[in-house]
Amino acid sequence: MAKPWLFLFLREIYSILISLRISLRMSLISKLPHIGTTIFTVMSKMATDAEAINLSQGFPGFGADPILLDLVAKYTKGGFNQYSPMSGIPALRSILAEKTKLTQGYLPDQETEVTIVSGATEAIFCAVTAVVREGDEVIVLEPAYDSYEPAISLNKGVPIYVPLNSGNFSVDWEKVKDAISPKTRAIMVNSPHNPSGYVWTLSDVNQLAELIREKNIYVISDEVYEHITFDGKTHCSLGAHPELREKTFVCGSFGKSFHVTGWKIGYCLAPAALTSEFRKIHQYVTFSTVTPIQFALAEYLEVPDRYLSIPEFYQKKRDLFAKGLAETELEFIPSSGSFFQLASYGHLSKISDRELAEKMTKELRVACIPISVFYSDKKDDKIIRFCFAKEEAELEEALNRLKNLSSILS
Ligand SMILES: Cc1ncc(COP(=O)(O)O)c(C=O)c1O
Repeated sequence: MAKPWLFLFLREIYSILISLRISLRMSLISKLPHIGTTIFTVMSKMATDAEAINLSQGFPGFGADPILLDLVAKYTKGGFNQYSPMSGIPALRSILAEKTKLTQGYLPDQETEVTIVSGATEAIFCAVTAVVREGDEVIVLEPAYDSYEPAISLNKGVPIYVPLNSGNFSVDWEKVKDAISPKTRAIMVNSPHNPSGYVWTLSDVNQLAELIREKNIYVISDEVYEHITFDGKTHCSLGAHPELREKTFVCGSFGKSFHVTGWKIGYCLAPAALTSEFRKIHQYVTFSTVTPIQFALAEYLEVPDRYLSIPEFYQKKRDLFAKGLAETELEFIPSSGSFFQLASYGHLSKISDRELAEKMTKELRVACIPISVFYSDKKDDKIIRFCFAKEEAELEEALNRLKNLSSILS
């Protein structure tokens, strides 16, 4: 008869071998080995630890309109808490189509061309996934928002980077033309632009239309800052161009427009054939988006002034920030759109932009974002980005601290 201790010993060995096998089998090979924690998380944590004013991450430092908050309460308490239709509730799709008619002059079909999603990030991911196949090239204008490349890579596409012009970050159309190849399947567009604030002109839109005419190239147009433009500039949606509309996914964000980035709610406008493919992906990424907030937004958008007044609201902040920045040693061109302001310091110091951002956060107690993180090759042009979507008192205090910049550069 086998001894009980031998039985226990063998059982122990067996379970070790099984768990070893499982852990070997479970060793995960990353699909995004080059991606770590985003700089936005890093800088925000550093800002909290240093008790710094956080002008790094792009979120408003003030609350939403109480009317909108009351509407959310009305619909949550009213029992509108179950799944919505996959494409979004009809009332929100319909009012969004009307808003598009009012602001961009065309009326998307609310049944077949409008989809409500969980933030522009989801819209971008689903649009890229809908069109990009293995080996397809996707043109990315840099500096670029950080969600584009992972979406392209996860779909086994190849990002082809084209630098924006230095200075004002306008598009170098010759370079875009040179980057187009028979493998080009899509181009990522972002206007108003994060991080530079550059706003596409009608001429930019026409040049793109001309360049990709009769080519099988789609456009993924990130327009999350559509309502934030300054000095009388207007946002030209690519959807407003009849030819581009046929090949474009317009990605928008209610979170950005209405100071509720944490709600993660946005939309995608695209022609029926593209929307149909887009929805096949959306329905298995999130299926639908938070229902009571959709109802609240549908009612809120009934008053056009609630979005038409956004440029004026932000213009005051842009002006205040630019005026204060002019009293520091930093150099800048006032932002034309978005809630970001870039500033150069290369004439003051040769330290890297990451090092400066860290020193500013810890020593001046103002957090910003180094622009090198928006480049695939981490090119360092000695430029930093500030987010001015903050209360005026907070901006004034930050500007005050920035006057002492030279103290941390010596
Ligand atoms: C250019 C750009 N696109 C997309 C997003 C993400 O938008 P959402 O929060 O609606 O997903 C951001 C957020 O910072 C952004 O700056």
